[in-house]
Amino acid sequence: MKKSYIMAPGPTEVPPEVLIEGARPVIHHRTPQYRKILTEVIDGLKYVIQTANPVYIIVSSGTGAMEAAVANTVNPGDKVIVASIGNFGDRWEQIAKAYGANVIKISPEWGYAVKPEELKKALDENPDAVAVFTQLNETSTGVYNDIEKIGLLTKNHKALLVVDGISGVGAQPYYSDKWNVDITVVGSQKGFMIPPGLAFISVSEKAKKVIEANKSPKFYFDLKKYEKSAIKEKMPDTPFTSAVSLVTQLATALKLIKEETIEKVWERHRILARAVREAVIALGLTPFAKENPAVVLCSVVVPDGVDGKVLVKKIRDDYGISMAGGQGKLEGKIFRIGTLGYTDRFDPIIGIAATEMALKELGAKIEIGKGVKRAMEVLIEEKY
Ligand SMILES: Cc1ncc(COP(=O)(O)O)c(C=O)c1O
Repeated sequence: MKKSYIMAPGPTEVPPEVLIEGARPVIHHRTPQYRKILTEVIDGLKYVIQTANPVYIIVSSGTGAMEAAVANTVNPGDKVIVASIGNFGDRWEQIAKAYGANVIKISPEWGYAVKPEELKKALDENPDAVAVFTQLNETSTGVYNDIEKIGLLTKNHKALLVVDGISGVGAQPYYSDKWNVDITVVGSQKGFMIPPGLAFISVSEKAKKVIEANKSPKFYFDLKKYEKSAIKEKMPDTPFTSAVSLVTQLATALKLIKEETIEKVWERHRILARAVREAVIALGLTPFAKENPAVVLCSVVVPDGVDGKVLVKKIRDDYGISMAGGQGKLEGKIFRIGTLGYTDRFDPIIGIAATEMALKELGAKIEIGKGVKRAMEVLIEEKY
């Protein structure tokens, strides 16, 4: 028998209460019964995203909501600023280019966050830019951005602020409205603790006007259709067939988040990530993030003499724990230990123990037990 764990920054493990919900008979989506569930779910999403703006549910992975954000705000030839700090930031550039945008890219060395002064310069030099696209948490490098500071820069600029919160929202402090974010996109398989398949997108008044005027070709991702359904007969509906079972699972997951409170969810993630990071340092390994280390995962430089891909495979195949390797130019160079979503204090210990055992077997010069000891010390010191 082998017990399996997911310690990746998405998809994440799903609580039993939520799994059971997915096994219930499917109800029809055009019924008052379902629209009542949808009403509760949208209220819950607003709470997690911290917004009073409309939130639409799209049946797609997170990238679908990223594409919807671009397709509805960018016309061919428009100038946009992409503030990228990793692989997912580069995805904004790819999508924007696919829609014919003229992309101004600012991108510090991977491992660092967006420098607000660099973004300010780009905004000052490009008063005609229609949007700034960036990430709350860049999952590929394990670095988060200071969205509050970025929002202060876009607030009085023509450009909309579009934030990919796919891995960060529901895990780290985030105030969409207070921080002047126009569009937040999120996915279901991370902090929301349900399986992959849903994406959420919130839209400010400033963004709504841009969406109304947008001319890019689109159909399934046309947010005007979602807005029309959202206000139909004063009760939310969806423009296409809803992923009913995922939405009912989401209703349960949101109840769990509300019971815990979003502030305590953020605090739990901070503490678990700190335990992992300090354990990694105690083992003599190097976290990849040079600043703003993520609270949903810890990215770790693969030690000399170890093949990063073999390490991740060994932890998965021999120890049953799915962690993540490096992406793009970091492939084989880092590995990422996730503590995201349905996680608790023993998760860092399991993840670090497996890392130590696998590294030892692969010949790394580490003293086993040192990381686990440090993780336990942090978890005794910090209560949540
Ligand atoms: C920050 C970020 N953006 C975008 C994505 C892509 O989301 P999806 O794979 O759900 O399309 C991910 C997935 O890991 C992510 O972490």
